[in-house]
Order: sequence, then C-alpha cells, then structure tokens
Amino acid sequence: MSILSEDLIRATLSRIRYPGFSRDIVSFGLLKSIQLNGNDVSVSLQITSPEASIPPAIQANVEAALRALPGIGNVTVKIDIVTPAVPQAPAPKGPTPIAGVKHVIVVGSGKGGVGKSTVAANLALALSKTGAKVGLCDCDIYGPSVALMFGSRERPMATEDDRIIPIEAAGIKLMSMGFVLEDTSPAVLRGPMVTRTTQQFLRQVEWENLDYLILDLPPGTGDIQLTVVQTVTLSGAVVVTTPQEVALIDVRKAVAMFHKVNVPILGIVENMSYFLCPGDGVRYNIFGTGGGTREAERLGVPLLGEIPIDIATREAGDRGTPIVHFDPKNPISQQFIAIAERLRSTLPLL
Ligand SMILES: Nc1ncnc2c1ncn2[C@@H]1O[C@H](COP(=O)(O)OP(=O)(O)O)[C@@H](O)[C@H]1O
Ligand SMILES: [Mg+2]
Repeated sequence: MSILSEDLIRATLSRIRYPGFSRDIVSFGLLKSIQLNGNDVSVSLQITSPEASIPPAIQANVEAALRALPGIGNVTVKIDIVTPAVPQAPAPKGPTPIAGVKHVIVVGSGKGGVGKSTVAANLALALSKTGAKVGLCDCDIYGPSVALMFGSRERPMATEDDRIIPIEAAGIKLMSMGFVLEDTSPAVLRGPMVTRTTQQFLRQVEWENLDYLILDLPPGTGDIQLTVVQTVTLSGAVVVTTPQEVALIDVRKAVAMFHKVNVPILGIVENMSYFLCPGDGVRYNIFGTGGGTREAERLGVPLLGEIPIDIATREAGDRGTPIVHFDPKNPISQQFIAIAERLRSTLPLL
C-alpha cells in the first residue's frame, strides 16, 4: 500500500527553499495543485519571477525531492511563469492650469474682514489699467462680495454646451456667487457642493483669453482654499493683512498652506495700515504699526503696499465702483496701480 499522500507531498515541498530566500516555496504561495494518481504524482507551481534562472532551479529541486520519496512513480512538475504585472502609475492629479489664462493669482489671508476682497477687486482693476486682460473670480461662496463691489446684479448666461459666460463690468470679467443667488439668501451649501461650485467657477466659466485671473479667497484655510490650491496651477499668492498680531497669526497659517503646495508668495499687502486725519493730517496707527513689514521680512517676501483706512475706498467699494475704477488718480488707486505694475514685472506675459 502506498504511503504517498497529498499531505506528504505538500510537507516535502515545504522543505524546499525559494532560491536566495530562507522561506520555502509553499509558504511563498507557489504551489497551485497536487494530483496523485496511484503512485504517480503531478504538481503544478506558479512563479512570478523576472529572473530566468529561478524556475529551472525550483523545477530541479522539486523533482529531486519528490523522486526521493519511497514508492514514488512518475513525477511531473509543471511550472507556470507569470510575468509580473507592471504597476499602473496613477494618473497625475496635481494642479492644472485654467484654460486660456496666463497667470492665476490668489488673494488670500487667514482672517476675515482685513480687506481681501477690496484688495482683490482693486488689484484686478489696476492690472486692467496697465493694459492687461483681467478676470476676478469670487471664491468666497458663503460670503460673496464681488457682485456688490461691482454693483452688478446681472445673471450669468450659459452657452449651449453648458459653459458659463462671466459678467463684464469696468472692463474685467467677473464671477461670483452673488450673481447666482437670489438677493440676500445665504449660500446654504454643504461641503461637497461648495467644492463643486468652486470647481465650476474655475473650470466651467469661460475665462478664456485672460492675462491675469485674480481669485478672491474666503477667510481661513478650509475646503474652498484647499480645492483651489490643490487643483489649480497658481502663479502666486498675494497675502492681505492688517498690522494686528491677530491678523498676522492667521496670515502665517495661510502662508503655511501656500508653502505646502509650493505656491510662491508674491508679497504682502498691509491694509488698514493707518488713518490720516483729513483735518490735520495726523497719522493714527489704529491697528498698530509695522506688522506687515515684519511679517514680510520674516518670510523674505516684498511688502507690496500699505493701504490706509480710507473713507473714499470704503464708500467706493460699497457703491459698486472700487476706488481704482471710480478715481484712478486717488493716491490709494495709485498705490494699487504700482502694486499691479510690480506684479506684472514678477509675472510677465510671454
Ligand atoms: N483700506 C480700507 N479703508 C476703509 N475701509 C476698508 C478698507 N479695506 C477694506 N475696507 C472695508 O472693510 C470691509 C471688509 O473688507 P473686505 O474687502 O470685504 O474684507 P475681506 O474680503 O477680507 O473679508 C468692507 O466694508 C470694506 O469696504
Ligand atoms: Mg472677502
């Protein structure tokens, strides 16, 4: 009676080491099947090896070990060689440019109310005054202000193939949730929808043929900002702050986010830097002084400008004609135009 059994054959094979390893071929998972027909044994192995010498070496060792078993008849060893699958590199999912736009610039900061939208709007207009073709996208989905600042309640039209045509005002192209929402109804959107709306503003709007597209970011470093910095190729970021320490703390968080995704900081705009009393010309440093300068030095980036607290600037924004558009000769407008010229030399149009 034969003492041969599948178990015996398996045990025999599990004493054979994989060439160059201390592990055996069974625990490596090479053994696919054992067939015992009387005293004849047939085993099939599967090897995934890029090295040509391995399969014959294993074949020889297996045959020798099986032939050494008492009472063994014919030994057949079948080896299937499987070519290792080349791992498919995942499609690169990094930031991509916005079609038709030469430079995308974000205006951001950690803190709300420091004047990001005011700076974004006036900078967009100032770039346009230097002769560039400019767009301004209000990425503050929850708290849009671009529609108000440009005094437009026009509704964007869609093309037949579902592209959104941006609103045009004061010579620049605009998109804002303010054009989409009914009156004062708040944007009640959940996280994923906000991300989708942001993507639509960036990708579904016909921003074609622009030299600069300015993105006005909401405060903080939330979903919208992450969507923007992770999906769009940005030429750089302009960071807006007031001189106060509380604003600077948030600025550092925003700067850390930009650094993480390798977005260059083009510079800092210190807004509400001081107040010049119209009567006596005395300068009041309402929010303290030097914060923007110190932060710019710390980061090694330019301080692009110090915009004072100014009644005309606020009124112009509220009225729907930002100061650069309403009164280009105003010293504050001149500052924005100087900043725009500086940005143009940093980000030239090739
Ligand atoms: N330099 C300034 N002088 C006077 N008011 C300003 C100035 N900058 C911004 N404001 C006003 O402050 C408010 C907040 O500004 P905004 O640009 O909306 O800030 P953010 O976008 O950072 O929330 C607005 O009413 C705006 O008109
Ligand atoms: Mg804003």
